[in-house]
Amino acid sequence: TPPKLLVFAGSTRLASFNRKLAHTAAELARAAGADVTHIELADFDIPIYNADLEARGTPPDVMKLKQIMFEHPAWIICSPEYNGSYTALLKNTIDWVSSPVKSDPAWHEGFKSFTGKVVGVLSASPGALGGLRSQSHLVPLLLNAQCWVAPKAFALGRAGEAFDADNQLLNEAHRKNVQAVIDQVLFASARLAA
Ligand code: FNR
Repeated sequence: TPPKLLVFAGSTRLASFNRKLAHTAAELARAAGADVTHIELADFDIPIYNADLEARGTPPDVMKLKQIMFEHPAWIICSPEYNGSYTALLKNTIDWVSSPVKSDPAWHEGFKSFTGKVVGVLSASPGALGGLRSQSHLVPLLLNAQCWVAPKAFALGRAGEAFDADNQLLNEAHRKNVQAVIDQVLFASARLAA
């Protein structure tokens, strides 16, 4: 069976570079034989985390996302950079999903949706560094949540000039860099599953 790969971006902006990069990554991973699920965080109705709110019941869309993440052993995250770090959207999503569900013993274990995932990190920014500093915060978070982070990552700089009108990466070297991360993620998740 082909490896199941989950792809998502930490931005909901309509013209988001990271959503475009996620789209490219999903296409390349499908071409590499992966069973790809590409989700948009905008499709999930998730409030700002609050433990009082959680005590009244984990929101249904958090449960939905937990289930999707649980079912995918490999992930690609496309991370924008805000103020030298990753976005509040990404942090809020991860905080909700990583929190044990108090009312459901099946989900009570901490980091259940994260433990053992192989995660490839991509980023994109109009700046020269391509959101690299968001990765330097996101990677330790993922390690703390018990993920295996792929050693290769890619930061797409000058993202405003990187895509054509059909949202395809113009530069073959950029595609190769994305491909290299996907290859590592699929390789490592197959090895861990063996
Ligand atoms: C930014 N941006 C930004 N870019 C960067 O390279 N380093 C940074 O520290 C920041 N900081 C920052 C803070 C805030 C509050 C905003 C709104 C933006 C610019 C950012 O990279 C740009 O808006 C991207 O287009 C965001 O990613 P998406 O939405 O295109 O995926």
